[in-house]
Amino acid sequence: MRLQVRRLCLLLFLLWVPGEPMENSDFYLAGDFLLGGLFTLHANMKSTSPVDNLQVPTCRKFTMKVVGYNLMQAMRFAVEEINNLSSLLPGVRLGYEIVDICYMFNNIQPVLYLLAQEDYFLPILKNYDRYVPRVVAIIGPDNSEAAKTVANFLSMLLLPHVSYSAITEELRDKTRYPATLRSIPSATHHIEAMVQLMLHFRWNWIVVLTSNDDYGRENSQLLTQRLARGGDICVAFQEVLPAPACAPRLDAVLDKLRRSTARVVVVFSPEVALHDFFRAVLRARLTGAVWIASESWAIDPELHGLDGLRRCGTFLGVTIRGVPVPGECDTCPWKTASYGDVLTLSGERVVFSVYAAVYAVAHALHRLLGCNRTACAPGPVRPWQLLRELWDVNFTLLNSQIFFDQQGDMPLYLDIIQWQWDLSQNPFKSVALYSPRQQQLVPIGNVSWHTGDNSVPVSMCSKSCLPGQKKKAIGLHPCCFECHDCPPGTFYNQTADEFDCQPCPSTMWSRGNAASCFRRRLAFLQWHEASTIIVVLLAALGFFSTLAILVVFWRHFRTPMVRSAGGPMCFVMLAPLLLAFGMVPVYVGPPTVFTCLWRQAFFTLCFTVCISCVAVRSFQIVCIFQMASRLPRAYGLWVRCHGAYVSVAFMTAIKAALVAGNMLAAPTIDPTSHTDPEDPSVTIVSCHPNYRLGLLLNTSMDVLLSVVGFSFAYMGKGLPMSYNEAKFITFCMAFSFTTSVSLCTFMAVHNGVLVTILDLLVTVLNFLAISLGYFGPKCYLILFYPERNTPAYFNSMIQGYTMRMD
Ligand SMILES: *[C@@H]1O[C@H](CO)[C@@H](O)[C@H](O)[C@H]1NC(C)=O
Ligand SMILES: *[C@@H]1O[C@H](CO)[C@@H](O)[C@H](O)[C@H]1NC(C)=O
Ligand SMILES: *[C@@H]1O[C@H](CO)[C@@H](O)[C@H](O)[C@H]1NC(C)=O
Ligand SMILES: *[C@@H]1O[C@H](CO)[C@@H](O)[C@H](O)[C@H]1NC(C)=O
Ligand SMILES: *[C@@H]1O[C@H](CO)[C@@H](O)[C@H](O)[C@H]1NC(C)=O
Repeated sequence: MRLQVRRLCLLLFLLWVPGEPMENSDFYLAGDFLLGGLFTLHANMKSTSPVDNLQVPTCRKFTMKVVGYNLMQAMRFAVEEINNLSSLLPGVRLGYEIVDICYMFNNIQPVLYLLAQEDYFLPILKNYDRYVPRVVAIIGPDNSEAAKTVANFLSMLLLPHVSYSAITEELRDKTRYPATLRSIPSATHHIEAMVQLMLHFRWNWIVVLTSNDDYGRENSQLLTQRLARGGDICVAFQEVLPAPACAPRLDAVLDKLRRSTARVVVVFSPEVALHDFFRAVLRARLTGAVWIASESWAIDPELHGLDGLRRCGTFLGVTIRGVPVPGECDTCPWKTASYGDVLTLSGERVVFSVYAAVYAVAHALHRLLGCNRTACAPGPVRPWQLLRELWDVNFTLLNSQIFFDQQGDMPLYLDIIQWQWDLSQNPFKSVALYSPRQQQLVPIGNVSWHTGDNSVPVSMCSKSCLPGQKKKAIGLHPCCFECHDCPPGTFYNQTADEFDCQPCPSTMWSRGNAASCFRRRLAFLQWHEASTIIVVLLAALGFFSTLAILVVFWRHFRTPMVRSAGGPMCFVMLAPLLLAFGMVPVYVGPPTVFTCLWRQAFFTLCFTVCISCVAVRSFQIVCIFQMASRLPRAYGLWVRCHGAYVSVAFMTAIKAALVAGNMLAAPTIDPTSHTDPEDPSVTIVSCHPNYRLGLLLNTSMDVLLSVVGFSFAYMGKGLPMSYNEAKFITFCMAFSFTTSVSLCTFMAVHNGVLVTILDLLVTVLNFLAISLGYFGPKCYLILFYPERNTPAYFNSMIQGYTMRMD
């Protein structure tokens, strides 16, 4: 019963039109300064027939728009509140005249009326500087189309015009619309909020549906421009919503929608055009999409109330953030009406924009009239003066900072909302907040998805690639691609290039399919490897046997066997042998300048010392007697100057010079590294391979010495066994020669750790050959046939030899 009475009162209230002063305005409050208000109180068409193009429909053709009514109430409330506040405009009474513009069909007449003076005439003047129209400012209208029409008139007189929900970008153009300000963020921010939402849920494959009017065209163009800038989101297709009468076209669009893999549909359209569209969607049983609503329909209770709409999928929308205005809804008679909550909760969002717009004008008046706490200066308020002040207002209203940015927009927060249908819940639940200043989305709630397990719907042209895969574009869209593995030696760096793999730096490698490269493993001879152990064991054998030989020779120094082997010169040979065996570890471990010097210079010098000793020794055995008899002076010189030692030193010096020259000629003595051709993940570190000409010279000298030694030994092949070294020298030379040549050949075709091992092995074997081959048999005789190691035995041997010679 009470409800019925309320409704009746309400109806009377609505139909009440003040007789004073003019039937043109629907709601009027007298005051010192009047604010004009343009609201849409009738919008939704009663019949489904489209608007007749040739005839302006009358307001009666539309049904009530409850949201518009609520907004109008907000303006009335704000004016009343300002009048009640003694501090803002003391001694000044604000009034209003509010007109229903019927969506957009009744705006020119009201604007002309509001611009006229008391006598209803809008005079034609040369100069409107001093012209004072009926109202000081106009609030509204709501939709962009109507706002643009109004703005064109008001710009001529520079009458302050504050729109509370027309987001169109065109109104930002201040050369065309210098008098138009807005108490909401512009369309760019709405679009950005949408894009941020899509990025947040990783949707990159979307459908855009637009109405066939400026609103749809303009917003879809903004979206396209924004997406072209980002490149992260692609439009699968874009369609203009056909007029409801054109059923086949609509069916074609729905069919395309059904077949598309895109699950996210952005709809830019005034709400009036969408009822028929969503009825068709329901008829077509199109479910499972995510619908993203532009502000025009994001909080439209009529659409929300459409039967069965919840089956269509998830509805998200971008709209202005609701700031509850305390006291406003207490006066709102709709609170308990049938769709009370829906209305309240949808209207409330834009309510604050209206409220802020009225307050902004009041603050501008406050500044213009120079108000203090007790009084304001009286005086005519010229529109352009008020406009100047309006641009500069900056105040706090319900904890929001209210000011206009450079484009005349108020950067208020935007809300991402989700539609809900449970009666107990807010039908437009806020799920995220968008700050125009930071251009960022702040999630504040969970979205409940239409999917069975409440998982986020996927709307991607191609699934994102696995780490280490590059994209290969299919068609024109950057969002559609195939994934290809990055080959070994390259890696995938998204920031550098999504469609190609980057090569690894030279010191690094990857096994392919990689998002980063690793340092190549360094390869060099290591202690724990079997080959190293074997060679080192050989070296140890050499070392200890050389040591043993040294001891044996030392103990039997004065015996004929030792003296026939060279006497003190044996130690000149044994010492470098011992040293060489002891220095084998320089081959193991990462090469350094120091170890490379040793490897490349030291061992070859040791070898030369030994070979030259052998050569000199053979020379002495074979030629010394002839020299003594035929060239006594030369012989004397040889003996006096220790010719044998001088010769060895001389040859060693030549060898040292060769080695040094070789080193100096080499481009570097630093160890070099290069990639293992068999396993690119390995870098081989080795001494600089200066083997080409250098090694040839080195080796030729050794070969020459061997040949000399061999020749003398061959000449003395008839000498008693103890003096005969021909076999040994032949063997040693042949071995050394073969190994050097093989090593060179091997190094030329292969460069790996194997080269180092072989180099080492050859070195060790060469020394072993000298150590065991030359000294071994002598030692054997010394130890096991002491009877042959006596001067008597030697004498008998020599006598036997001389007798044979005779
Ligand atoms: C303004 O003051 C009057 C009288 O005190 C009061 O009835 C009315 O509710 C007030 N309006 C607002 C909006 O505060
Ligand atoms: C307020 O302004 C009026 C005129 O503008 C002036 O007469 C009055 O003294 C001012 N009051 C205060 C407190 O400044
Ligand atoms: C508005 O005023 C606040 C403090 O009063 C200030 O921090 C802010 O920068 C002002 N904004 C503009 C746009 O002038
Ligand atoms: C969102 O959902 C998660 C897990 O389902 C939950 O932990 C979190 O509290 C929810 N957040 C809100 C704001 O409801
Ligand atoms: C990836 O590429 C960017 C830009 O070229 C560069 O700054 C960054 O260091 C690269 N990342 C890696 C791991 O190489």
